[in-house]
Amino acid sequence: MAETAGETTEEKKTVRQSAREPVFPVVMPREKDAAIPERLRAVLSAALAGRKARILETAEELEVFLSQRRSLSEIRSLSESRPAGRILFVLSLGADGVNLEYARLLRFLRRAPGALDGYTGGVIADSESDLFTKSAARELVFAANCAGCAFVGRPLVEGTGTLSNFAIVARNLGTDWAGAYRESAAELVRSVLETEFVPRKKPVLLALHASSHKTSNTWALWSEVRKRLDGFEIQEIGLRNGTLSDCSGCPYKMCLHFGERGSCFYGGVMAEDVYPAVRRADGIIMLCPNYNDALSANLTAFINRLTALFRTVRFYDKALFGIVVSGYSGSDIVAGQLIAALNMNKTFYLPGGFTMMETANDAGTALKLPGIEGRIDAFAGRIRRTLLAGAAAEKSGAAAGRGSDRGDEREERGNL
Ligand SMILES: Cc1cc2nc3c(=O)[nH]c(=O)nc-3n(C[C@H](O)[C@H](O)[C@H](O)COP(=O)(O)O)c2cc1C
Repeated sequence: MAETAGETTEEKKTVRQSAREPVFPVVMPREKDAAIPERLRAVLSAALAGRKARILETAEELEVFLSQRRSLSEIRSLSESRPAGRILFVLSLGADGVNLEYARLLRFLRRAPGALDGYTGGVIADSESDLFTKSAARELVFAANCAGCAFVGRPLVEGTGTLSNFAIVARNLGTDWAGAYRESAAELVRSVLETEFVPRKKPVLLALHASSHKTSNTWALWSEVRKRLDGFEIQEIGLRNGTLSDCSGCPYKMCLHFGERGSCFYGGVMAEDVYPAVRRADGIIMLCPNYNDALSANLTAFINRLTALFRTVRFYDKALFGIVVSGYSGSDIVAGQLIAALNMNKTFYLPGGFTMMETANDAGTALKLPGIEGRIDAFAGRIRRTLLAGAAAEKSGAAAGRGSDRGDEREERGNL
């Protein structure tokens, strides 16, 4: 396997300070003495061939690697342009979906807001079962994103037990399922290493909601965020009850037929207003009250109905943001739903700290939460730095993720 392709044993120990091409960290949590499945080994060998990859098998190894990189970027002159960091996560989940070293990695990520600021990542999840790959990867992407990591559109390649998830990809590529797995992993590595999300001069941000303006905590937070987005063109679309029917699951050809005409079988607000707005937008922000630990039905219908547009348009160059408010708990579940549906499935780019999550139930209480102003500033700052050209130099508020006060320090350090 290309475990440290291109590196000697000595070079493995430290990040080389003179190398032009940065080492590509591959975080593959591995329990002591656990074997790497042969199938996964072959996939990684092919995907990492010719890359200066460095395998990190424990949370501690990742922590050391990140701190060495930070020291290195501090040694370099601030005027030197610093390429953004890239990172690949590889989850080997066995038959039961449990990898104890992965649990330790999650703990590290959840305790380290800002640790992955400036990194862009992808995930390969391999299992002997047809279960667990998506849920584990979604949980990992959420944790790493709260730690500041951005993810490319379609950041996940899953090797399920049977590999039957590759049936269509294999047919399109003219190969077998194992070949499709290998090619998809290699394509993911290329995408992680090469994707650059470019800020725009006058970005268009589309806000999608289904809330009552007067009483909604989610809407109140958005109203405050919006005030901090000067230089943006903002479009808001309300998907209230009665305006939107859910997807009816038309046959592929019928969906494609309507999609190619910029529409959908149902037409209506989705075809007339929402599709053109999504096409035009540089980013979308989903305003999501937690309804029964899920997105509301109308927002779910929006995502399902996006399928017709997705037949002809990809969203890799559009950023996804979210504001999630729960009365009691569970915002991470709703944020995970956004990640799975819009980043993993529908190809939207996921900027670091893509979501603001708050807990507030009674009308008007979200804006009275302790420290809320700082978190609104920090979240608006992340939107600005992702989408608005020139905003990267603005002073940041707080780090990605919730409740952190280390943002200034982390973000000014930048990344290797
Ligand atoms: C239909 C419905 C289901 C809800 N389910 C949950 C839930 O599962 N968990 C929770 O913490 N809050 C739940 N809530 C409370 C909302 O998340 C809460 O009111 C929050 O402030 C966001 O809603 P808002 O933007 O309309 O104010 C629910 C509210 C409604 C109306």
